Amino acid sequence: MRQTVSQLLTRAAARVTTVSDSPRLDAEVLLAFVLGWERTRLLAAGSTRISRRAEAKFGQLIQRRAAGTPVAYLTGNKEFFGLSLTVNPTVLIPRPATELLVEAVLTAVPNDQPLVVADIGTGSGAIALALAKQRPQYRMIATDRSLLALRTAASNAERLGLSAQVDFRFGSLLQPVGGETIDVIIANLPYLQPNQLDDQTIRAEPAIALDGGRDGLAWIRSLWSQVADRRDWRWLAIECDPGQRSTSTVAARRLWPKAKLQAISDGRWWHGFVVER
Ligand SMILES: C[S@@+](CC[C@H](N)C(=O)[O-])C[C@H]1O[C@@H](n2cnc3c(N)ncnc32)[C@H](O)[C@@H]1O
Repeated sequence: MRQTVSQLLTRAAARVTTVSDSPRLDAEVLLAFVLGWERTRLLAAGSTRISRRAEAKFGQLIQRRAAGTPVAYLTGNKEFFGLSLTVNPTVLIPRPATELLVEAVLTAVPNDQPLVVADIGTGSGAIALALAKQRPQYRMIATDRSLLALRTAASNAERLGLSAQVDFRFGSLLQPVGGETIDVIIANLPYLQPNQLDDQTIRAEPAIALDGGRDGLAWIRSLWSQVADRRDWRWLAIECDPGQRSTSTVAARRLWPKAKLQAISDGRWWHGFVVER
C-alpha cells in the first residue's frame, strides 16, 4: 500500500532531523518541488497518494538531504530579496543576513541618482541583482574570483532580465574595477575562521565562499586597505560575523574617523555595518 502525503512527510521529516533545524519544512519543500505544487497545497492533500515515480524521486532527495545536501542545492533555487535565484554547489546559498545588508544600502544611499555600485564577491549575484532590481538607475559591477560562481551569477542576471545593468568581472576584490569611479562598495566576503568551517550546515558550500583565513578577516582587511586607497566611493557596506563586531568596528573607526558608521542588525545579532563619508 502506497503512503499518503501526510505519512510521507512525517517519515521524511524524521529522516532529516539530525541534519536540519526545520525537518518538517525541508520535507514539505522537497515534496512540493517533486510534485510541482505550492507548499500550501500539501496541507490540503494529506490523505492523497502520489505516483510511484514521484514517491521514488522524493525518497532520493530525502536521502541526499539526510546526507547533508542543503535543500536549496536539491531544488536548485533560493529566494533572495524577492528574487528567485538559481543556486548550485559553486555558489554560497544567499542568507537572510545578507538581505539586511541590501536593505541597509537601500536606506543609506539616495534613490534619485544614477550611481555605480561594486558588489565584491558576488557569488550567485544575489546582492548585485537585488540592488539592480530595486534601483534601475544604478549600474552594478560585480566581481568574484570564482569563474564558476560568475557563470551562475550571469545566468541569474539573464533569466531575471537584469543583464544590461550588471557587469560581471573576474578577479580579486577591487582589482577588476581598476580606476573606474564607483560610488558604493558592498561586500559579503568569506569571513569564517578555520574552526567554523567544519559545521555540517555549511560543509556542502564552496570553501572559497567561506574561508576567511586565521581570524576570518583576511579578505575583509585586504578589501579595506584597497578601499582606503580610493578617493571615489561614499558608501561602504560590509557583512561580517557577529563575533567580529569589535575588531572590525575599531578598524573601520581607525580608517575613517570622521565617517558615519551604521550598524546592521536583525535585532538580536550584529551582522556588519555601513560606512558613509
Ligand atoms: C560569502 S560568499 C557571498 C556570495 C554572495 N555575495 C552572497 O551574499 O550570497 C563570498 C563570495 O566571495 C568570493 N570571493 C572569495 N574571495 C574573493 C576575492 N578575493 N575577491 C572576490 N571575490 C572573492 C567567493 O567566490 C564567493 O562567491
